[in-house]
Formats: sequence, C-alpha cells, structure tokens
Amino acid sequence: MTVLVTGGAGFIGANFLFYWLKAHPGDRVVCVDRLTYAGNLSTLAAVLGRPGFRFIRADICCREGMERLFREERPDVVVNFAAESHVDRSIDGPEVFLQTNVMGTAALLDACRKYETPRFHQVSTDEVYGDLPLERPDLRFTEETPLQASSPYSASKAAADLLVLAYCRTYGLPATVSRCSNNYGPFQFPEKLIPLMIANALQDKPLPVYGTGRNVRDWLYVEDHCRAIDVILQRGRPGEVYNIGGNHEMENIALVRRICQELGKPESLIAYVADRKGHDLRYAIDSGKLQQELGWQPETSFEEGIRRTVRWYLENRSWWEEIVSGEYRDYYQKMYGDRQALS
Ligand code: NAD
Ligand code: TYD
Repeated sequence: MTVLVTGGAGFIGANFLFYWLKAHPGDRVVCVDRLTYAGNLSTLAAVLGRPGFRFIRADICCREGMERLFREERPDVVVNFAAESHVDRSIDGPEVFLQTNVMGTAALLDACRKYETPRFHQVSTDEVYGDLPLERPDLRFTEETPLQASSPYSASKAAADLLVLAYCRTYGLPATVSRCSNNYGPFQFPEKLIPLMIANALQDKPLPVYGTGRNVRDWLYVEDHCRAIDVILQRGRPGEVYNIGGNHEMENIALVRRICQELGKPESLIAYVADRKGHDLRYAIDSGKLQQELGWQPETSFEEGIRRTVRWYLENRSWWEEIVSGEYRDYYQKMYGDRQALS
C-alpha cells in the first residue's frame, strides 16, 4: 500500500510517518511538504534515503505538481496534515492560511477524484468548534457541535472540513475527517505553547503567558493522535467526522508551572503579557464516538507525555537551537517584542 502524507516535515506529520513506517513496515510512505518555516528536513533525517520512503518538496496548492505526483504514485491513502497551523500567525496574516488550508485541500481533493484515490483523510482540529465558557466544565465538543471558528486559522480549517465532506457527498469521495485537541511531543515547532516554554526556560528567558493564563486546553500526546488516525483509516466510515481528545484539560498557567518544575526552573520566569486577540477560552473534546465505535483510547498519560517531551527537548537541543537562532528571532521580536509584560 502507498500512503501519501502531506505536511510530513512538520510536527504531527513527521510523528505520523515515523509511526506508520514502524506499524506498517511493508507500506510505501511518500511525504510531500513545501518546507515552509514550520517544515524541517532535519526532522526526517532518520528516514530519508530509506527504502519505501520518498520525500518530495512541493506545495499542495500546485495542481500540476499534485497531479504529477498522484499519476506517479497512485496513493491508496492520502493523509492531509499540510497546513499553516499557528493561530497567532493567522491573526497577523490570514491570507496564506486560506491559500494552503482551503485551496491546498481543494487541490488534493481534485487529484483524489481524478485518480480515484481509495481514501482521503483530513487532519483537522477541535478549534473549528470555537470555544466553551470557563464556568461550564460540563460542556464538551461533540461531532454534532456547530462549527463556530474564532480565528482565521480555525475558520480556514473549518472551511476545509466542509469542503472534504461536500466532496464526499457530491462526488462520493471516500473521505474521513478527524478533529483533535492540542498535541504535544517531539519535533513541535517552538512557536507553540509547550516547546516555546521549554526552549525559553532552558535559556532562562521570560515565559510569556497570555492574558490571565486561565485559558484551558485539552492535551494529547502526539503518538496517541497518530494511532487514532490509523484506527480511523482501518475502521472508520467514509463521510464521518471523529473527535480525538486527550481527556486532559489544563489551565495554561498550570501547564507552564509544571514545565518549570520539570526543568527545575524558577516560576519567577513567568511573565503575564497582553492577551491574544479573540483568545478562545476553553477547548474540551468528547471523543466518545471514536472510543466506542472504533475502540481507540489515549495510552500516554499527561505525566508520562510531558516528561518524555521535556527529555526530548533536552536531548535534542541542536534541533530547536538551530530554529530559534534563525528567522525565528524576527518572528519572536515581532510577536513578543511589543507585548508589554503585565506583571
Ligand atoms: P506544523 O505547522 O508543525 O506543520 C505543518 C507542515 O505543513 C510543515 O511541514 C509545512 O512545511 C507544511 N506545509 C505548510 N504549507 C504547505 C503547503 N502549501 N504545501 C505543502 N506543505 C505545506 O503543523 P502541525 O502542528 O504538525 O499540524 C499538522 C496538522 O494537524 C494541521 O493540519 C493542523 O491543523 C492539525 N492539528 C494540529 C494540532 C496541534 O496541536 N498541533 C491539533 C489538531 C490538529
Ligand atoms: P498554542 O500552542 O498556540 O495552541 P492553540 O492556540 O492552537 O490552542 O497555544 C496554547 C495556549 O497557550 C493558548 O491558550 C495560547 C497560550 N499561549 C500563551 O499563553 N503564550 C504563548 O507564548 C503561546 C504561544 C500560547
């Protein structure tokens, strides 16, 4: 079987293709990635050149390129991770989010139609549901929750989800969609909360917590997400949406304190800074459908996952130090330079 993984040089895509090559050693894995700021070929060092693995640098928005690739490879499965994925960047400049997340997904869907690809899977996010109030811990997102995206990022992901489901209904394209909560683990780009806090703490730099720090996210170890997608590909029904969640909600401030503790760094590094515009208060996902219908469960506890993640960043300093010493410095200055510390 040939599995085409888009965005495989990014955080979850890379973890997914490592997972897949291990779990399904007889399969061919083809990775297509444009290598934007978030894609890193060094992440794939362990598999580059290995038989049964091919890397192609290409933009999923390039219809000609995608057609050529589908003609050559005739994938049995396409798993679409390729996306612009950072909310703060989407607030700063939405256009590329529409381009990659919507038009890129459309280009892949059309290639799948033309080459009659047996299965397309769209990797989506719980952020398409908007947010939940902090004072209603009883509420969670189900697959029936209406889409109510808050940021340009989540709006572009919601648009892509709708397009995938429309292709399924209109053209009979065999597609599934999964909506996952916040992931963490090895190879996550240090613009996201957990790796940013680890990298800053290791450099004794301030730990910028937005607003009150009371916003809540539900954290899932990346390997559990990869296994959930595998389960959906094996047993999920085309046309269906599946929520994936870690069942581990945490306030941001508690998470940042936990990271300080794990690294032996003082909490005095924590600096409250101006809030994100439109900042979603709480995400909480009900993954009962995936658990009951397909038998998936998260396997890595948060305690185990965060320890493993911190260890990975300690043992792979060159991976993230190379990133934070490059273009990232301009990003950091732009995003955090004029964010006044509130305390
Ligand atoms: P990431 O930003 O780390 O990686 C994205 C990858 O896509 C990069 O390698 C980048 O080079 C590539 N890419 C971007 N534009 C491209 C284009 N036009 N053509 C080809 N490749 C392109 O993102 P991630 O955190 O690994 O997220 C992967 C997917 O999972 C995204 O679709 C995201 O919406 C979704 N998701 C992420 C999370 C999370 O917590 N990180 C949670 C739920 C869902
Ligand atoms: P992030 O990792 O960007 O994921 P998302 O916004 O997609 O959930 O942020 C997670 C939470 O952490 C979110 O509530 C915003 C907050 N946050 C900070 O407080 N400081 C930061 O520097 C970053 C990047 C995020």
